[in-house]
Parts: sequence; C-alpha cells; structure tokens
Amino acid sequence: MNKRKILVTSALPYANGSIHLGHLVEYVQTDIWVRFQKMQMHEVHYVCADDTHGTPIMLRAEQEGITPQQLIERVWHEHKADFDGFHIEFDNFYTTDSPENQEYCEDIYRQLQAKNLIAERSVEQFYDPVKKMFLPDRYIKGECPNCHSKDQYGDSCETCGTTYSPTDLLNPYSAVSGVKPERRSSKHYFFKLSDLRCRTFLKEWIFESLPSQSGIALEMKPRLQSEAANKMNEWLSSGLTDWDISRDAPYFGFPIPGTAGKKFFYVWLDAPVGYFGSFRNYFKNKRRSQTGIEEFLRPGGKTEMVHFIGKDILYFHALFWPAMLQFSGYRTPTQIYAHGFLTINGQKMSKSRGTFITAASYLKQGLNPEWLRYYYAAKLNDTMEDIDLNFDDFIARVNSDLIGKYINIASRCSGFINKKFDGKLTDAISETNRKWFNQFLFCQLGEGDTFLGRHVSIANFYDRREYGKAIKEIMLAADVANQYVDRMKPWELAKSRENDAELHEVCSVALNMFRILTVYLKPVLPKLAAEAEQFLKVNPLTWRDANSQNRLLADGHQINGYEHLITRVDPNQVEKLIKANQESLQPTTQQSPTTQDVQTMEKDPSTLSQDIKENVKRTTAELATVDDFAKIDLRVAKIIDAEQVEGADKLLKLTLDLGSEQRIVFAGIKSAYSPERLKGRLTVMVANLAPRKMKFGVSDGMVLAAGDGNDGPYLLAPDSGALPGMKVK
Ligand code: 2FM
Ligand code: ZN
Repeated sequence: MNKRKILVTSALPYANGSIHLGHLVEYVQTDIWVRFQKMQMHEVHYVCADDTHGTPIMLRAEQEGITPQQLIERVWHEHKADFDGFHIEFDNFYTTDSPENQEYCEDIYRQLQAKNLIAERSVEQFYDPVKKMFLPDRYIKGECPNCHSKDQYGDSCETCGTTYSPTDLLNPYSAVSGVKPERRSSKHYFFKLSDLRCRTFLKEWIFESLPSQSGIALEMKPRLQSEAANKMNEWLSSGLTDWDISRDAPYFGFPIPGTAGKKFFYVWLDAPVGYFGSFRNYFKNKRRSQTGIEEFLRPGGKTEMVHFIGKDILYFHALFWPAMLQFSGYRTPTQIYAHGFLTINGQKMSKSRGTFITAASYLKQGLNPEWLRYYYAAKLNDTMEDIDLNFDDFIARVNSDLIGKYINIASRCSGFINKKFDGKLTDAISETNRKWFNQFLFCQLGEGDTFLGRHVSIANFYDRREYGKAIKEIMLAADVANQYVDRMKPWELAKSRENDAELHEVCSVALNMFRILTVYLKPVLPKLAAEAEQFLKVNPLTWRDANSQNRLLADGHQINGYEHLITRVDPNQVEKLIKANQESLQPTTQQSPTTQDVQTMEKDPSTLSQDIKENVKRTTAELATVDDFAKIDLRVAKIIDAEQVEGADKLLKLTLDLGSEQRIVFAGIKSAYSPERLKGRLTVMVANLAPRKMKFGVSDGMVLAAGDGNDGPYLLAPDSGALPGMKVK
C-alpha cells in the first residue's frame, strides 16, 4: 500500500475559554482519523495549538491583573490536561504566540506585499478615549435603532434580531470603559481578495478534486464537502471584498513589519498560520518524520494537509487561508473536513439546563472519556449535519455495545482458558469453527455471494469519516462473535473433561474474535485497546492484525488473567454530571443581595430546568415586604478611586462618591476588574450596611455585582443620567 504522508490539524481553541463537550466532537473526530491512519502505518503528524491573540484575551488578562502571556500559559495547561484526559494525542500542542508562527506570518505578509496583494486604506471606527483603543464591534453597545432595546451589541439586536453596523447604534457606549466612543480613522492593511487573481484561483480551487491517496478505494476526493463548496461558491459569487488583516495598538498579537509597532496582524490571520508554527516547532523538538518539513509546506510534494474544522469557520479556512497560501508560495490544504455542531438532548448546550458541560467537569465527575468517544463515533458521519448527544441513548448504547457485546466475549471465555489451559490458546480449528470465524471476518456484499473482508470495509468507513457506519459494521461482527459463543456454550462444554479440546478451541477462536474487534475499535478506544493488548499479551495492534488472511494467534500463545476492562455507565453518574453543571445557577444563601438569582430569573425563565424553577419558587416563597425592601438604602455611587489591596486575593479597595460624602468599600471583584477600569464609573451600593471591620480596614457599604460563581462578577451600573447619591428604588 502507498505510504501516505499527512499533516493533520484540528481548529485551534481560543485561549480564553474552557474546552467543552461541543469542542470535543472535533478533537475526537480528528483523533480517531489520525489513530486509524497511523494504524495503517502511514506517516501522520497531528498538530494543534492554543489560539492566543486578540482583544478578548488582552482584556481578560487585564481584568485578572496578569499579563496575556501569563493568562495563555495557564490556559494552555488546562487545555492540555483536558485533551490528555480524553486521549486526544496531538504530536504537538503548541501556542500561536510563538517565534515560529511570527516568522511564517511575516513571510506570508511580505510575499503578498511583493505580489501587490496588500492594500492600505483608511478606516473609520469607534474609539474609546478612556481606554485609548479602537473597539471591536463586540465591545460597542447601545440602543437598537429598530426596537430601541438598550444594551445591544454593535452587530445585532438580541431582542428584535435586526443586524446593523456599530455606527447605527443609538447612544453607543464602550463596553470596556462605559464611556461614549468617538469616531476616529486609522490606516488599515487589507489582503486584496477582490483581486482577479484571487477570485479566479478560488473559483477553481473550491471545486477541485484530487486522486485519493488512501489506496483503499480508487476515487477522486474533493477538497471540500459538496455542501461546503456550494456555500463557498455562493460567497464568491456575491463578491469577495478585501480582508482587513490589521488591528491598531494596543493589541495582543504580532506587530506588522514596517509599522513601527503601531499595527498588528488580526488574530484570524495568525491563527491558521499557527498550524505551520506548531508543525515547525514539532520538527525542531520532537521530529519523528522521515520527510522534510518543506515537503509538507511547499507545493508539489507528495504530502497531504488535512484540516478538521467546525462549519462556522469554513469562510476562513476555505477562502482566506488557501488564497493567502497560494500567493505566498506555500501549499494549499488538500482537504478541509467540516463537521456540524453538538446539541445535547436535542437542544443547544445550555448553562441553565446543565448541558454546557466542560471536559474538565466530565472527567471530574468520574465519567469514562471512552464512553463519550464511542458515542460520538457512533453518531459521526462525513456531513456538516449537527449531531445530538442524547443522554438516555448514550447510556443505552455504551452499555449494550461496549459491555454487552464487545467486552462480554472476553469476560465469557477467558476464565476457561486460564483455569483449564494454563492461559494458553490453541490454533487448532475445526471446519465448523472455521465457518464461524469466516462469517466473523467477512461481510456479504449485497445479495450475492461476494464477500469482503470486514477490515477493508471498516477501514473504508474510517478513512471517509463515516464512523457511524464503521461502528455499525463492527457491532455486526460482535454480534456474530456473540452468536458463536451462545451456540457453542463453553459453560456447557466445561462440564465434562471429554469436551476439553473443543472447549479450548471455541474459547481460543472467541478470544481471537475479541482481538480483531479490538483492532477495529482501537482508533476510538485507545486506552481500552491498550489494556486489551496487555490482557492478550500481544504487541500494539495495527490494522494488519485484522487482515482476514491472518491466522489465529500461535498455538500455545499465553494470555494474562482477565480483569474487567470497562464498567457500565450508571445513569446516576450522568444525573450528577448535569447537576454539577447546573450548580453554579442555584440560588445561594449569601448575605449580600443575591443578584445572581435576579440574573437567573431574568435570563429566560422558559429555559430553566425544573430543578431550578423549584429552587426559584422556594426562594421567592420567603417574601420580602415593601417595608423590608425600604430598609435597604441603595444609592448610585461614583468610583473615584480603586486600588489593589496588598495580600488580598479577591478584594479591591474602592473610594466611592455619594454626592454628599465619600466611602471606602472593599469589594470582591478583583478577578474581573483592574483598578484602572473602574475609576470614573458609576455603580450601585448598599449605603446603610453596618460597617464591617476587615483584615485590611473597615468596609463602609457594599457595591452590587451580578455573577453565578463561574461567570462574573459584573458590576451593576445605572443608566446614563444618574448622579452620585441618587436613591435606587
Ligand atoms: O473558532 C475558533 O475557535 C478559532 N479559535 C479557530 C481557529 S482555527 C485556525 F484557524 F487556527
Ligand atoms: Zn432591536
């Protein structure tokens, strides 16, 4: 078979959020494909990295009072632990904030410049005069020009759904500092996608097919799935505009050469280049490739570059990225495989339903990552359709397939081998048993008597990302193995010594079937397969071990004692997982006003789970009278000073102006705000709270903030026009 040389990537996760079950669809999908190709003995390199640049990461680091480098370093370790936990085996997991990436970005930029594909143009944008920065659309808020809802983002209204540009917003304000933004213009750099050369190239490229190198089937493989190519064509036909690849300082990213540190590459330029950066770093440090790096990254080599991505980022990967590469002297992707989104129990993942589940919480609750890998595999195909994780189905399928069908074979037969035959197998095989074994090894093609080795048919499915079909075929083979054991009844044979030879043969054949099923499942269940290899005392299994031409394991092959390889899913575990992810929304019995309850109820009561509704009811049952409420003196306060408190992890010291007086308040908001961000802002405080003596001084009041334990705190702010000292009623 032709030895393929493949560079494989999954999309780079942003370094400002946790990996959740939605992300894992892609990493599991890619990891299965990579493991399968490696089992075929191809040369495969799977690289990824954290996507570290851009405004959100810069601002978040500032809020936390750390540098962006410290933030991305911390998140890298979290992401790495999540990926390791789910057995996602990158050959290199790196960062886009790397010298290798910077070098490639600069080179690509210079090549495009040399080809006259970079334009300079002046752009007018909103500017925050307090933060001294241009604001991305997401950071401008204001009143919807259509329905007049307040606090809408700069791109669309969440109330009426209208889309618009930030300059259409009424009374716009900066979501970073709260001040009214100014309009300023600044020079930007554009990649000239509207250039005829780019359009002509892309028109052809998106519909191109290349001869498949899989050697499994003779076919032409399109670069993009047909629905993706059609979508890209629509975009192309509606006219590509030039792409703004620059951002003004301050920005966390790479400076654009020749701009004296004033302009930076937009994060979406350096993110895909980060695939190359990670690959280069891997070559430097852990090189295991027999092929030179240039053969992977330059056109004309016999190598493949395959990107797995979500359908939402096709635009960047199937238009911008290939055009950038084509005109800067690099190779373009061989294939781009886009997948759909994950729904859970038929709906979008939701924090209030407890289905916004992080990878870390899944592992922490003790659920087996291979259950999820198996379930995803059973649901995945080669389309961009969404896939649903239905928890009832998850429990039923994992338990019936993995435990009821696969593991069952080993657990029913190994005891006899160990007890009666010193753990040794036989390779003797009678006519009847050979028939069963063949039925296991081959599948029928259509109605006739044409048979195909299952290892070929399953390999085809894996290679085409039809994992659901692969799993179906594997379970058909497992059904044959179980029917065989049921028919031969080793437990009956074991009753009389006269049947020992037959018992030995049946159990040996069954364990060989188990071994071959392990080969088939190994891309999906790598840890379980490694344990099965240990139990069977065999070398790491490759696809060759499933070849129907292969014999049984040699006569006298010794196995180890069987220990249970995988447990069933207990429905209680799933319940606990959902509860744990809902917990952050449960009303608490804090002494401070439970603004988080208010926030929860205001979100969207119809989406609240029954559990939470019950809790909300219970809380509201303890009613406060108007008189109770009137006891609390809520006032608008202006933060005139904010300082770090030495030795305090969570507190900031605020000086508040109440119009007629000033107060010192220690507020637990350090995790979300830097002092600079607070100065000059209006907020709401409890003005008649009894002063509290704290380790760092006396706190004379309390400021109000919303949060749910995981998210926030978000300081409350009155609408514009309110003045310090005004009563809040
Ligand atoms: O959409 C995202 O999550 C991006 N961080 C993906 C980047 S993929 C590649 F271009 F780097
Ligand atoms: Zn609106």
